[in-house]
Amino acid sequence: MIYFDNSATTKIDPAVLATYDQVAQNIWGNPSSLHKMGDRAYQLLTSSRKQIASLLGAKQDEIFFTSGGTESNNTAIKGTAIQKREFGKHIITSSVEHASVANAFNALENLGYRVTRLPVDKEGRVNVNDLRNALDTDTTLVSIMGVNNEIGTIQPIEAISDLLTNYPTIQFHVDNVQALGKNIWPRVFTPRVDLSSLSAHKFHAPRGIGILYKKEGKMLSPLHDGGGQEKGLRSGTENLPAIAAMAKAMRLVLTDEADKANHEAAIKRKIVDYLQDKPGIKIFSPVSDDFTPHILCFALEGIRGETLVHTLEEHDIYTSTTSACASTKTDEASTLVSMHVDDKIATSAIRLSFDESNTIEEADEFIAVFDKIYQHFAKINHLGE
Ligand SMILES: Cc1ncc(COP(=O)(O)O)c(C=O)c1O
Repeated sequence: MIYFDNSATTKIDPAVLATYDQVAQNIWGNPSSLHKMGDRAYQLLTSSRKQIASLLGAKQDEIFFTSGGTESNNTAIKGTAIQKREFGKHIITSSVEHASVANAFNALENLGYRVTRLPVDKEGRVNVNDLRNALDTDTTLVSIMGVNNEIGTIQPIEAISDLLTNYPTIQFHVDNVQALGKNIWPRVFTPRVDLSSLSAHKFHAPRGIGILYKKEGKMLSPLHDGGGQEKGLRSGTENLPAIAAMAKAMRLVLTDEADKANHEAAIKRKIVDYLQDKPGIKIFSPVSDDFTPHILCFALEGIRGETLVHTLEEHDIYTSTTSACASTKTDEASTLVSMHVDDKIATSAIRLSFDESNTIEEADEFIAVFDKIYQHFAKINHLGE
């Protein structure tokens, strides 16, 4: 089996699962309870928060636990829009965001907010000048992802941060769900970033747990009202086993991060070298410092992405179209559509996404299987003749 769908989700690490299990069985008090069992749970909650803060280069009080990337994004975006509605109702994002950002903006637009969606270039990247031109005195929020989940573009978060330094009241949110552990953290988590989202299941921890980073002093309206957990920002009893497991997974994924990223880049390079210059093939994720090493999106024009994914699956190779790579549904506004890629090519795209446990041998095996599919297809369609 070859699993090349790590951007969709990753396999839980056995050591992380062991932590989850241990906490669930032994430290099951409610962190808000006044007795010893509650205190023990609270201590673990605090130490997990501390560890995560230190790994991310943040303060303990800036880490808020949520149910994942979707909730973190919604809290950051809607929480800012509602909190700052007296000051302005103009909010800015890009045209290539994950649905949890894009649809949060759509929902706010339906409530009367003015939304600017920045266009992208041929590589799926926003232009800082477009952002500069879009800013006005009503702008309260800019939300741009760190790494695109469909083709792996790294957005110019540092340049955007420089620009936004002159606009200190605008809250800057970065969806970093695809960015952790890829050796690019300082590029996507600058001191100017006010809010950032992470999701644990993208780095070998359980589903349904994530992080919202909120810079000290920044204000958000909570979306959940209740018992006031997470300093009132996210009420609800904390999912302590998952939080402790996430802290462990984060420590593991960030250990030898550069080596792991280089390894993923080598797998990507190997497959790109094979695909490069083949008639009918279009690569959207070049091997470059401006793209994450773990995502490779490409199209074999003429075969629908779904068909290719299922053909590979017959060989026990798991890949993805992503909603993404291939969707032309306007409500999902895929990255490729925003890049003005021809519809026929966009619907042919598939995404391979790697992690540190993938091997060069798997890349070789993928190439061997894909080449058979490609040669058959090329013959029928007279490609390269
Ligand atoms: C860029 C990005 N943001 C947000 C999410 C949503 O995260 P979650 O599945 O934890 O809700 C994903 C998941 O694929 C993602 O890739």
